[in-house]
Amino acid sequence: MKQNREHWSSRLGIILAVAGSAVGLGNFLRFPAKAALYGGGAFMIPYFIALFLLGIPLMWVEWTLGRMGGVAGHGTAPAIFQSIAPKNKWIKYIGVIGVMGPLVIFIYYTFIESWTLAYSFFALTKKYGRDIDYAGMKHFLSGFQGLETNQYFDGFGWAYLFFLITFAINIWVIYHGIKGGIEKLCNWAMPILFICAAALVLRVLTMPPLNPDNPDWNAVNGLGYLWNPDFSALKSARVWLEAAGQIFFTLSVGIGCILTYASYLTKKDDVALSGLTAAGTNEFAEVILGGSIIIPAAFMLFGPIQMQEIAGSGVFNLGFVTMPLVLNQVPMSDILSFIWFFLLFLAGVTSSVSLAQPAVAFLEDEFDMKREKAVMVFAFVTFFLCQPAIFFLKNGVVDELDFWGGSFFLVLFAAVEIIIFGWVLGIDKGWDELHQGAALKVPKFYKFIIKYVTPLFLLTILSVWVWQEWLPTILMKNVPPENFGYVLGTRLGLVAMFVLLCAAVNIAWKRKKR
Ligand code: PFF
Repeated sequence: MKQNREHWSSRLGIILAVAGSAVGLGNFLRFPAKAALYGGGAFMIPYFIALFLLGIPLMWVEWTLGRMGGVAGHGTAPAIFQSIAPKNKWIKYIGVIGVMGPLVIFIYYTFIESWTLAYSFFALTKKYGRDIDYAGMKHFLSGFQGLETNQYFDGFGWAYLFFLITFAINIWVIYHGIKGGIEKLCNWAMPILFICAAALVLRVLTMPPLNPDNPDWNAVNGLGYLWNPDFSALKSARVWLEAAGQIFFTLSVGIGCILTYASYLTKKDDVALSGLTAAGTNEFAEVILGGSIIIPAAFMLFGPIQMQEIAGSGVFNLGFVTMPLVLNQVPMSDILSFIWFFLLFLAGVTSSVSLAQPAVAFLEDEFDMKREKAVMVFAFVTFFLCQPAIFFLKNGVVDELDFWGGSFFLVLFAAVEIIIFGWVLGIDKGWDELHQGAALKVPKFYKFIIKYVTPLFLLTILSVWVWQEWLPTILMKNVPPENFGYVLGTRLGLVAMFVLLCAAVNIAWKRKKR
């Protein structure tokens, strides 16, 4: 066992780091887009139910399992699961999902994060004009992404340059370790991010109506769109799936990142209150801040119907197309747009470093690599893995990675974790572990929720998905024929990744004669 395992320097440090992982593009781009698409108030009811029955329990489970693993010198799921069920030969391979999932998300997340850095730069240097209209802004985005050549971009150079910068920043941070890299980054980035977000909320909510023909399209009604409950959508399985998926994605739970972060705690550190605080911080950033920027802004300029259409036309259209247009309507638009995109960048980078850490920890803990070497191996491998996401964006590769990494694996791995905690480790033992050093006594009914409700909820979601969508997904029924090869290639790549990681686990276990 490695003796010199790193630790966080303070309780605030890990809370900010976990909140940094959680608060990301998911809060400011994905959440408003999903909420707008699924009718605002109709989305929020399943969303909050999923928060209390899935998100918060899983947060506690991951913090607890992670701390247990760290105390034994392990920061990733294969070894953590194995230590809970030492006789089970297969469990370590199931744990591979907890290393692979974050890696898959990292591959496309870093690329999208790089767009936000690029747009921060474009906002400041006025690369898109103030009078640009909706169609123009869409062409700007497509040109930037290399999907077309137009008057704004005649190649893919800018996007690639900003990807390289973003990738290098990520590697630089994780190279400096838990305390010296991730914790330091989150200590300054998180407060700045909150200030930027609060400034934008204030600006958007105090804007006069932007469309003189429709005075009802104002900020208050924009908020009403999100907050007026609508019970009619509760019958739709899709809305439940999407709401649960959003909860996992936004809290960064059910994938392995929090396991790894919590493994750098010591045995006596609190997990109950810290986990809840990190989750609470994320929810504040999501529903209060994230919910009060894009949605009212888009509502004011386009009204409810067109806003929903825009959200349906692509997750990024509200953030990269609509927001700059809204901000263009008010004085100091360059600075405001810069604040918007830089806020996204800070949110993104504090999340992507957490996506990188499980793979790095795996190499360090299971192959006894020094951190610097582990980071270099990680950088080398992921740099190549990112390329298909970058070059085949238009062929559906990012969507495919997002579906498996950002939705399916999350729900699957969350189900595995909760069963391991409540049933394999045993809820009583798990509950004791959760309360070791705890600064908060978790209400007793959560014992019941963790043992029965969360697993049942998750298994239901998985079954509904298998029932409704498995066959069409596997047969690629919704994939346009021209993308067939790319999507198939991505899937084969994912299978290969899984097999290689299983082989790595096998080698690591043999080396240590476990
Ligand atoms: N929670 C991040 C967001 O909301 O953007 C994304 C994310 C980070 C998902 C880390 C999963 C994860 F493990």
